[in-house]
Formats: sequence, structure tokens, C-alpha cells
Amino acid sequence: MRPVALTVNGTRHDLELEPRELLVYVLRERLRLTGTNVGCDTSSCGACTVLLDGESIKSCTVLGVQADGGEVTTIEGLVTNGTLHPVQQAFHDHHALQCGYCTPGMVMAAVSLIDHGEATDEAAIRAGLEGNLCRCTGYHNIVEAVSSAAAAMGRS
Ligand code: FES
Ligand code: FES
Repeated sequence: MRPVALTVNGTRHDLELEPRELLVYVLRERLRLTGTNVGCDTSSCGACTVLLDGESIKSCTVLGVQADGGEVTTIEGLVTNGTLHPVQQAFHDHHALQCGYCTPGMVMAAVSLIDHGEATDEAAIRAGLEGNLCRCTGYHNIVEAVSSAAAAMGRS
């Protein structure tokens, strides 16, 4: 076991982790933050996307020990005082989900894309989200939602 300090959604956690533990399971099973989903476990689907030190990562591809000292933001960390993040609100407003399984990862990837000023048009949004798969929506409303959120945040 290794000592690992993780700050998740602003709260520091001092953990003892096995070196083989993936970050996604640290979040889901040790910290009970089950908003982050596991779709494939093989870095294909993006359902496990979170922010690590502000960068969008697939948490099934990162070991918990690799995140030592890092700051993680999960979907649970986006709400502020009961108010949805603009990207969450835009997904709601534009009906950008059906089953919702991909949605937490899709939202986190979109937040990163917008924060980096890369959600400039439809083509850029589609390219930026190509690591996140959705089997339900056909992506159209997701792209609309991200475009709308980027505009609302002054980052389009
Ligand atoms: S569960 Fe991580 S990419 Fe699919
Ligand atoms: S809404 Fe079902 S997988 Fe995207």
C-alpha cells in the first residue's frame, strides 16, 4: 500500500492505495463518488472522464498513485450552491442526453474543451469530444449544448 493525497472537488483525502488501483475505482469505490461511470475500462468510451489538475483525463487510464498530490474534479464537483454548471444546464436545456450513461464524462470533457477555449465551432466541438462515445443521442444535441454553454461562458 502507498500513501496518496488527493484533493477531490476541493476536499483533501489521505488514502492508502494499492499501486494497481485505477483512479476511477478510487473515486467510485473508496470515495463513493459514483457519478463518474465505467463504460469500457479500456480507454475507449470516455464515460470515466474527470479533470486532473484542470486537464480532462480518462480516469480508467490513470492509477490512483499517479494522481498523488493532484486536484481532481468530478461531475459532483460542478454544482455550486445548488446551481448547475453552465454545461450541465445546457445539456438539460438542449435535451443532450437519453440514457445518461455517457453524460458525466461528456460534460467533464466539454468543460475542459470550453475552459481551454477550444469549443469555437461545431467542427472543433466534434473533434474535441471524439474520445467520448454516446450510443443514444447521435451527438447533435450534445454539440448544440456545448456550443450554447461556450457562448454563455463567453468562450465561443
Ligand atoms: S471507462 Fe474509461 S474510457 Fe471507458
Ligand atoms: S445518452 Fe446514452 S450513451 Fe449517451
